[in-house]
Amino acid sequence: MISKNFPITEIIRCRRTVKPAMMDPNLEVPSELLNELLENGNWAPTHGFTEPWRFTIFSGDHRKILGEKLQELYSNLTPEDQFRQDKMDKLGRNPILAPIVLAICMKRGDNPKIPEIEEIEAVACAVQNMHLTAAAAGLGAFWSSPPILDTDGMREFLNLRDSDRCLGLFYIGWLKEGENWPKSSRGPISNKIKWFGES
Ligand SMILES: Cc1cc2nc3c(=O)[nH]c(=O)nc-3n(C[C@H](O)[C@H](O)[C@H](O)COP(=O)(O)O)c2cc1C
Repeated sequence: MISKNFPITEIIRCRRTVKPAMMDPNLEVPSELLNELLENGNWAPTHGFTEPWRFTIFSGDHRKILGEKLQELYSNLTPEDQFRQDKMDKLGRNPILAPIVLAICMKRGDNPKIPEIEEIEAVACAVQNMHLTAAAAGLGAFWSSPPILDTDGMREFLNLRDSDRCLGLFYIGWLKEGENWPKSSRGPISNKIKWFGES
């Protein structure tokens, strides 16, 4: 049951992964909404104020260039016995099915007191802020993380340094006609907590 007392509860529980195949590539995301998403991402918590999140935005014809790069990396990096043509096709197709794709990146700071994992966690917080903002607007989004992203080839494509990481692609778009907002479920939280001292 969703509590109506806290508006944020409704947004958190309605947030859903909407895959590019369910998006309408021709329905544009207004720039004010994209900016709101990005600004909210920018308000994520960050240890030491390193603000490590970086986003490279692909729209229009640049999405095709992204798809071609993903296919090139997949075909170069996948051992022959693991290569799957359906994966290869999807990597090329997904970017052109969504009107906007963001490369989710972590720019490693130079403060030695901040471990890399905390920089990655801060980026994940930023993505969640954006995903929740998208859900509040009825906009679909999908965090995709094929292993080919965290590679030198992708770093070079995105102009990242060796110590930076590409942690995913964030596809954004409106549901196409005939598609319904997906449903999901979770196992009970009671199975995931324990009070210290209880057996
Ligand atoms: C860090 C991260 C990486 C993810 N990578 C993928 C992915 O590569 N492929 C995929 O199908 N879903 C991926 N997902 C999305 C999950 O599949 C999705 O969150 C899960 O199915 C729950 O659905 P929901 O987001 O609608 O609650 C990723 C989610 C996170 C947080």
